[in-house]
Amino acid sequence: MDSMITFDQVTKRYPKSDDILQGVNFAINEGEMVFVTGRSGAGKSTLLKLIAAIERPTHGTVLINNQNVSQIRNAAIPFLRRKFGLIFQDHKLLYDRNCFQNVLLPLSINGITGEEAAKRVRAALDKVGLLNKEKMMPITLSGGEQQRLAIARAVVSRPSILIADEPTGNLDSTYAHDILGLFKAFHQVGVTVIVAMHDTSNAPFQPDQILHLSQGRLLKNGAST
Ligand SMILES: Nc1ncnc2c1ncn2[C@@H]1O[C@H](COP(=O)(O)OP(=O)(O)OP(=O)(O)O)[C@@H](O)[C@H]1O
Ligand SMILES: [Mg+2]
Repeated sequence: MDSMITFDQVTKRYPKSDDILQGVNFAINEGEMVFVTGRSGAGKSTLLKLIAAIERPTHGTVLINNQNVSQIRNAAIPFLRRKFGLIFQDHKLLYDRNCFQNVLLPLSINGITGEEAAKRVRAALDKVGLLNKEKMMPITLSGGEQQRLAIARAVVSRPSILIADEPTGNLDSTYAHDILGLFKAFHQVGVTVIVAMHDTSNAPFQPDQILHLSQGRLLKNGAST
């Protein structure tokens, strides 16, 4: 079977930076649950951005469903992104819209409106425990609540690949467990889930694969022990 995501000898350098990633190789199959680990600055966010075509590799190849992301036209990127639910460290919430409207936006973009849209927005808000805050503005939410709002927005359009960068960073352990449980539930219905985290010791389950980054290299690739 072809992999859903393939990195072949991927090197990433930012303008004026050293190699942040060097010769990275891995493959993720459809439906896998993957953790990306490593210390601060190891390149976890960079790796996720390469998958989502937010950054392009300096050398090497990134394939998403056999599509070479390094060569993809800019105009084709929005179509590629529709496959993804993205949860990044800076939430990129819209601070001039309320919680409901923030979660509604991806559906509007996909042409889903009216009652069906409202039902899905409320289901997503309910999953992250924010149903009673739908009319509030994001700025009035705590850091952890904003993080959960970003998660609701990422999952509302039922993406086939969910990418989360430190999604539990600002959450207490109860919510962290709930969020990871939510990811596990998506995994169980066939969604490919890729989560970057510093610390996997508190994860309530084992992933299919751990990509451990250290000094630009992928150190360990395979199921954890
Ligand atoms: N846009 C950029 N321009 C230049 N350097 C960058 C850029 N983005 C990241 N870097 C550098 O790349 C390295 C890896 O950053 P990255 O954000 O991928 O690490 P990380 O593993 O996600 O860290 P953290 O755990 O702190 O989030 C860092 O040294 C960072 O300074
Ligand atoms: Mg990061």
